[in-house]
Amino acid sequence: MATTQSTSRGNWNSKLGFILAAAGSAVGLGNIWRYPTVMAENGGAAFLLIYALLVFIVGYPVMVAELSVGRKSERNPVGAFRALSNSKFFPIVGFWCVLCGIVILSYYVIVAGWTIGYFFEQIFHYSGWTEMAAWVANTDNGWLNAGVAIVFMAFTVGIILGGVSEGIERAVKYLMPLLIVILVVMIAYVLFQPGAIDGVRAYLLPDFSAINSDILLAAMGQAFFSLSLGMGALITYGSYLSKKENIPEVAGYVTLADIGIAFLAGLLIMPAIFMAQNQGVQVFGDDGSLIAGAALIFQVLPELFHNMGGVIGLVFGATFFFLLSIAALTSAISLLEVPTSYIIDEHKVRRKTAAILIGAIITVISVVIAFDTSLIGTLDFIFSDVGLPLGGFMLCLFLGYFWKMENAKLELGQGFASIDEHWFFPVWSVFIRFVCPILIGLILGRTLWALFF
Ligand code: PHE
Repeated sequence: MATTQSTSRGNWNSKLGFILAAAGSAVGLGNIWRYPTVMAENGGAAFLLIYALLVFIVGYPVMVAELSVGRKSERNPVGAFRALSNSKFFPIVGFWCVLCGIVILSYYVIVAGWTIGYFFEQIFHYSGWTEMAAWVANTDNGWLNAGVAIVFMAFTVGIILGGVSEGIERAVKYLMPLLIVILVVMIAYVLFQPGAIDGVRAYLLPDFSAINSDILLAAMGQAFFSLSLGMGALITYGSYLSKKENIPEVAGYVTLADIGIAFLAGLLIMPAIFMAQNQGVQVFGDDGSLIAGAALIFQVLPELFHNMGGVIGLVFGATFFFLLSIAALTSAISLLEVPTSYIIDEHKVRRKTAAILIGAIITVISVVIAFDTSLIGTLDFIFSDVGLPLGGFMLCLFLGYFWKMENAKLELGQGFASIDEHWFFPVWSVFIRFVCPILIGLILGRTLWALFF
């Protein structure tokens, strides 16, 4: 049994280090910005239900698949598909993964930039500098959007330059638990405010008539986005994973951490939306749809902190946005690591050159988006809602029918000694060959059909 890892590539320092890094990739704006927004737009509780089902039925099996392909090949997505089969087609899927990483990161850094802006908004508001607070909170200001995105991108490139384990592991170890504590305390506060209980109801009592094919696609896209799946982030992270680790187990922890934090974020934001409405803020339009769009949480949450008032509001608000920007940073790192490791592995470019080159390309795209943030919704639909499940679909076909399940079993068996007797493999194998590709195929197929016909 091979227990060594190629020494030319980075490696995670420990099992906990890997779980933290993968959880750091998963937990980010997807949980606290994208999930509440998409959930509130798609009927609350009904969405939560479908989302949770898709996370376990599709997301978790695909995560195990990505990690095993990554660990076996020790490559980026393009190189992984090349190394494990002689198919000419699958490396193209790898390129699609790299492209999704580039585009997603280019709007991700803008929203991440807003978290920095709102950190300062909390401070300015507390200090009574109302004009400054309003200026820094304006998500329609193209120059400001571009500026904060560039700052955020610079941090991301900086960490990637340092290699895979330093920085990421350290940041997640201390800051993620703190994020959970803040979420829980905020939830406790919100639940006692007038109007909040309607939000809890809308979040937890599903209206089954609200389930339609739009919800299905939105929930599937969200599952892939939030778990960092479908674009090879976890193939790449898996490529640095030690052969001693039990992949199904670590994937389980990451999935639970991710869905747990998303659930909490929803429990904070749904009541907050209804509270805001109770106070006369127009949150829903005449047709019942949410009006805030991409900037939703950035309108609802700062208000909440202001309402707490005084130094307590400041401490909670500033800490919350600080932690959110760190959570976004540990995710952005994984998005950037995919194209970077592709250039390093396949074109033999040094890490430094690769990271700066890709970082510069992404920054240019971000600056364009900064001046027209409505592009975020369109790009997010193409590259996240459709693009990521498409990548996951291809990965299932690759594992099930090209690389073959027996090879996947050999890889998974490393770190999972009892795989032959365990129920996990037969069940997972059915999911990867049939359940996941059929479900993804049906949902994607329906959407594309509705779009074009
Ligand atoms: N999962 C990250 C988040 O929730 C975003 C991400 C998507 C990261 C795809 C990597 C790959 O914020």
